[in-house]
Amino acid sequence: MTRISRRQALAAGTVGLAGCRTEAPAPSAGPEAPPAKAGLTADGARGVERIVEATRTRDGAGVKLSRALGGRALPMLDPFLLLDEFHSDDPNDYAAGFPDHPHRGFETVTYMLEGAMEHRDSVGNAGRLGPRSAQWMTAGRGIVHSEMPKQERGLMWGFQLWVNLPRARKMIRPRYQDIAPGLIPELDHDGARVRIVAGSAFGATGPVSGIDVEPLFFDVTLSRGVSFEVPVPTDHSAFAFVTDGAVRLGPSRAEVRAGQLAVLRKGPRIAATCDATSGRMIVLAGKPIGEPVARGGPFV
Ligand code: CO
Repeated sequence: MTRISRRQALAAGTVGLAGCRTEAPAPSAGPEAPPAKAGLTADGARGVERIVEATRTRDGAGVKLSRALGGRALPMLDPFLLLDEFHSDDPNDYAAGFPDHPHRGFETVTYMLEGAMEHRDSVGNAGRLGPRSAQWMTAGRGIVHSEMPKQERGLMWGFQLWVNLPRARKMIRPRYQDIAPGLIPELDHDGARVRIVAGSAFGATGPVSGIDVEPLFFDVTLSRGVSFEVPVPTDHSAFAFVTDGAVRLGPSRAEVRAGQLAVLRKGPRIAATCDATSGRMIVLAGKPIGEPVARGGPFV
């Protein structure tokens, strides 16, 4: 894989972190043909098993969302149960927020790129989730909380991810990890801009700790001509959701565009390149739990 220098990457122009999609994602490119041997190539880069188009939906008190995981097309990817993106500068799309609702038996993760939400729960915890912050909430035996916009206008952009807990750990005491933006390592690796929310890469470790499925959570921005490769535990489930532009993933360089989620095969590395103007994706990996899942709304 060709690497370009950091200087070349910078010369190619910096990538707007707050860029918005302006058009609906094009139809799915379809999965690439499976490589001959268990999805592994010589260098172990994970191939793309399938590409899923996020679908529009509403949740909470009517917040407009794109659901990439947890819908009909991809009900789950053990241990991940749901991925929603909210992305709108129209307050009508988000003002209703997520009033009091319960969670039990799993973990909810909020990752904000733009805008602010306020979080409150039934036992007196409260906090503000501002741009580029994260919250990893282990609901465990149960909490009731609300997540409401802390702004009346402007862009609201972020993600909600649900992560399962093993059966034996579903009733643990609830736990919060509220993560201010400055605690998330952000580094430049061969021209790729990488924020590390969870897990380790390139000598840095994300702030999220003590999670059963040993997650990796990277926010990766590539500009044209930049490649990105990161080692991951071989047997973790993994996906990449493209939030802006387009990236190419895996040995056959399958194109994944904004609004699409790529399910990755097992393997020791995730590899991506970018030949669009830019591409941004969130990359998640987690140890599969391998237990039957019964879900009923906010209980799993
Ligand atoms: Co919630």
